[in-house]
Amino acid sequence: MSILNLIHGGNAGMMPELYKEMTEEEMTGKILKIKKKFGERLFIPGHHYQKDEVIQFADATGDSLQLAQVAQKNKKAEYIVFCGVHFMAETADMLTSDEQIVVLPDMRAGCSMADMANMLQTNRAWEELTELFGDTVIPLTYVNSTAEIKAFVGRNGGAAVTSSNAARMLTWALSQKERILFLPDQHLGRNTAFDLGIPLSRMAIWDPIAEKLEYNGALEDIKIILWKGHCSVHEKFTVANIKSVKERDPDINVIVHPECTHEVVALSDFSGSTKKIIDTINEAKPGSKWAIGTEMNLVSRIIQEHPDKQIESLNPDMCPCLTMNRIDMPHLLWSLEQIDKGEPTGVIKVDQDIAKDAILALNRMLTIR
Ligand code: 13P
Ligand code: SF4
Repeated sequence: MSILNLIHGGNAGMMPELYKEMTEEEMTGKILKIKKKFGERLFIPGHHYQKDEVIQFADATGDSLQLAQVAQKNKKAEYIVFCGVHFMAETADMLTSDEQIVVLPDMRAGCSMADMANMLQTNRAWEELTELFGDTVIPLTYVNSTAEIKAFVGRNGGAAVTSSNAARMLTWALSQKERILFLPDQHLGRNTAFDLGIPLSRMAIWDPIAEKLEYNGALEDIKIILWKGHCSVHEKFTVANIKSVKERDPDINVIVHPECTHEVVALSDFSGSTKKIIDTINEAKPGSKWAIGTEMNLVSRIIQEHPDKQIESLNPDMCPCLTMNRIDMPHLLWSLEQIDKGEPTGVIKVDQDIAKDAILALNRMLTIR
């Protein structure tokens, strides 16, 4: 989260205690009243990983690609109250007009993966990689990254990707340059490249802490340079989890998000983005059995929505993404009441110089087919 966003957030401080003392019924009534008053002037997108208490008020739900697309299409809302994490609200701000105000109900809702790549580290990596490979590298960044990283990628001819379009974007990138620098999630990069037929032996890792390339072999063989970042939620699904589920019942289908490690994805029956997981379960036969490896709020919702199927979390000790979980009913109500008072809090406004380059990366993602 940049200092600029914090400053711009102005009164983005802490939510007053009184919101914690309200009953659910009281909060529900107040939220619905403000939603009715504002009508189409207010838009609430909600990521699939949000809690049910928040999702019930969302005007649109989706994965990060779908929410970027709906934000871009929405020309009517004066206020977009983004129920998701910081990088998603930044993306919404950059894809909407200057007059539209994007608000994050709790400024502490960040993403630990996005924080694993900063500009200092990225400039250092680019310097070193340019020295080693000349002008043969194109950068791609998972949307789970800061606006500054997206701007770096946009300036250098690359694009953003989400878990829904990663294969298409990697294919495009390899038609532009000989090799890819993939930020900041090594697992999504590795799993996607592997599915496209690139062997692990042609993938290197850039360690931003040690500032060095990890690779055993001839440099000219490298096709993919994976930034050493990860999702602390999806890394908690293990090969042992899969073995235990399969030992208990070999008929259970295992489906995981590609932010899981390569070993886990390789051993699973299916893998795919949040949307693909939802679609697969929607289309599955009644009575079918599933163990799902993704964020827990979503898995719990899928379980509730499919009483005709046997569904469980791949890791029985899994907990939700803690930063996604920062957005709750009290914070949603607080941010709506601030808007109603004409004093929006938690406003996300990306610096214009950064936004102009970051939009290049986002627009390439949204237009390349
Ligand atoms: P999606 O791109 O599947 O929405 O995932 C976003 C995310 O944060 C996954 O951890
Ligand atoms: Fe970030 Fe992982 Fe949470 Fe997604 S699940 S928002 S990648 S920490």
